Amino acid sequence: MYDYKPDPALDTPERYRQLCGAADALTEGESDAVANMANVAALIWEFVPDLNWAGFYRMGTNADGAAELVLGPFVGRPACIRIPIGQGVCGVTVSDAQTQLVDNVHAFPGHIACDAVTKSEVVVPVIRGGKVIAVIDLDSPTLSRFTQEDAAGMEQLATLISDRI
Ligand code: SME
Repeated sequence: MYDYKPDPALDTPERYRQLCGAADALTEGESDAVANMANVAALIWEFVPDLNWAGFYRMGTNADGAAELVLGPFVGRPACIRIPIGQGVCGVTVSDAQTQLVDNVHAFPGHIACDAVTKSEVVVPVIRGGKVIAVIDLDSPTLSRFTQEDAAGMEQLATLISDRI
């Protein structure tokens, strides 16, 4: 049985250190990408408070063979399945190959609303061999929920799992 109970009093860097430790332990030696993404999404949900969605979009292709993001394992309500590169917060994360920290999603041009309660969002790229292979998306019902510490913690997590998904 896996029973992760992060102390609610943890400061943000320590919270992400413990999240990364748990993710490392759960994915180490496991080669199945879907299993690893599913467990990492579940761990994010356990460790990071005040979320309404946490999960992955992976690089895939559309019917014409063009690159686009495709929904992967997540925790939360059903979400948009396909996101073109350069569109929405997730698509811009791929085209810029950089984390997007969005205090107010309604002020982000082209934001794709999958759940009306979402107010802020952080999306980090997962980079392997110099290429973005996926993004990890966290949504919150609270404005300005995410800080640079959240972004840094999620980037560490993305680096840790980049060759395990
Ligand atoms: N809001 C995202 C779409 C994904 S959902 O939030 C789960 C975006 O603008 O890319």
